[in-house]
Amino acid sequence: MREKIVAGNWKMNLTKNEGLLLIDSVVNGLNTADVKVILAPPFPFISDTVSKVEKTTISVAAQNCHQTESGAFTGEVSAVSLQSFGCDYCIVGHSERRQYFGEDDKLINEKIVQLLAKNIKPIYCCGESLEQRQSEEHFEVVGEQIQSAFSGLKREDLLKIVVAYEPVWAIGTGETATPKQAQEMHAFIREKLSQVLRDEAENVSILYGGSVKPDNAKELFSQKDIDGGLIGGASLNATDFLAIIHSF
Ligand code: 13P
Repeated sequence: MREKIVAGNWKMNLTKNEGLLLIDSVVNGLNTADVKVILAPPFPFISDTVSKVEKTTISVAAQNCHQTESGAFTGEVSAVSLQSFGCDYCIVGHSERRQYFGEDDKLINEKIVQLLAKNIKPIYCCGESLEQRQSEEHFEVVGEQIQSAFSGLKREDLLKIVVAYEPVWAIGTGETATPKQAQEMHAFIREKLSQVLRDEAENVSILYGGSVKPDNAKELFSQKDIDGGLIGGASLNATDFLAIIHSF
């Protein structure tokens, strides 16, 4: 059975006090153990978040990491450092990293390898742009992203990865993929994984991300291949984030 997961990606938001208050509100308001909740705050919050969720079922993710173990890379953060601070997950391949920092799937593959070596589970983001969707290239684009990002990974590695389908046109725009559009892509991704994993592709959690809100979460999460969400804007508000988690 695959895990149901709701992860909150704060992106580059919140001051210290705002962030710590948000973590407390999520910890205190969470009333289910059936959904794996993951908080992905900016780096400065990692240590405090790990302490605050210590006695809960909540896990902590970083939003990025460097592809090498250590060295002269000013401003970067390594997987080994994240692991030592208690991070269990790390987002890689977010479309904002691809768009603003020029990351491609070859680099993302290196980051995945680095994370797996340090026992951190990658949350791998993929998804097409608006132009690619309009020209009906979306399956091809996502298929190629996955092919290249997961190249050389073994079966047991693939089983540790959480996939997040985030159509770029739905991120922060208020426009959500319809449950049908999302389900179609999730089924395609699972089919792609099954080329290596066979039946075990059923055990990989595939999350949807892109303007998930309390009022659309339930319908999205009820689709057969949608195992939860990667939440941006709505994860900055404890009431909304909890409502999304509890909508399962
Ligand atoms: P929004 O929920 O703000 O659309 O962001 C989605 C996202 O990018 C999560 O990683």
